[in-house]
Amino acid sequence: MNKKKLVFSGVQPTGNLHLGNYLGALKNFVSLQKEMNCIYCVVDLHAITVFQSPNELKNNVLETVASFLATGLSPDKSIIFNQSSVSGHAELAWILNCVSRIGWLNRMTQFKDKAGSDKEKASVGLYIYPNLMAADILLYKATHVPVGADQKQHLELSRDIAQKFNNDFGCKDFFPLPEPLISKNISRVMSLRDGTKKMSKSEESDYSRINLKDSAEEINKKIKKAKSDSEQIPGDLKSLEKKPEALNLINIYSELSKTSLDKVLNEMSGKEYSFLKKKLTDLLISEITPVGNEIKKLLDDKAHLEKILKKGKEKANIIAEENLKIIREKVGLI
Ligand code: AMP
Ligand code: TRP
Repeated sequence: MNKKKLVFSGVQPTGNLHLGNYLGALKNFVSLQKEMNCIYCVVDLHAITVFQSPNELKNNVLETVASFLATGLSPDKSIIFNQSSVSGHAELAWILNCVSRIGWLNRMTQFKDKAGSDKEKASVGLYIYPNLMAADILLYKATHVPVGADQKQHLELSRDIAQKFNNDFGCKDFFPLPEPLISKNISRVMSLRDGTKKMSKSEESDYSRINLKDSAEEINKKIKKAKSDSEQIPGDLKSLEKKPEALNLINIYSELSKTSLDKVLNEMSGKEYSFLKKKLTDLLISEITPVGNEIKKLLDDKAHLEKILKKGKEKANIIAEENLKIIREKVGLI
């Protein structure tokens, strides 16, 4: 176990987790817990930057924990907890709000996407969301952050904030500059309906994504309906790049079958997309439905999930308070 490295990542409890979360983040979380100390957080304070129904939020927090466990995270190996239960996140976020610059936040593309055309009506929380994310990571002085490619810009901001804090308060190496760990093969799983958009919980059509809780029948239907291409599968990547939906299906197949893209294209070249879809459906059913079944089983015992969160909170809080004590001193807070 590498004691110097510390992994932190967060997932928002805003509904069903999907194949993008699984391939872009959760699978990496699980392999990292074998080699490093890891902290995995259900970021409920991030979720409420957009209104959440209180009862749904509670359920979604537990469902996200169940999804963590069902994909293979272990509360004995990793710290698993929810963000709002450790108040240090909010406290450090305030301090970092005063370090971060408005100009930096104005460049964040996720805010522009989420706020849509009427930015005046977005919550202030949504605007300063990336500062809270920096606080999540720096509160534990985490060194590595596994995320999907969509979070790269937020992570760069976290590094800028860490560096500015270290400069402003004359403590050169106090906060490590956190490094993103982004999967090389599949960092962005795209929507099954529009290959230029990422697969997302908030997309209206459920046919755009494979949820971890989908039944075999639903997976079959969604892949059958997924947009592909009327021509046969080409043998080279260049021709595929103009067909984002087809490329996405091939990328997912390559990742799940642990076969390189070149090999997959060799195997599939000249065949119809229905051939790929059949094989992809079989792979998805064998990998995703057991995870979905386990999530449903775990949700039958909510008290058990709450106990895991409580234990995780206690462990996280010890590290957070130790670091906060020093941070308060550095800033001059009594
Ligand atoms: P979120 O559900 O937005 O909190 O995301 C949780 C994690 O899943 C983050 O690391 C995201 O970068 C990752 N993620 C979300 N959607 C996708 C996607 N379509 N492809 C790859 N990674 C994703
Ligand atoms: N912003 C991330 C997302 O939407 C979630 C998140 C919050 C996060 N805090 C984090 C990810 C800290 C990594 C590290 O996916």
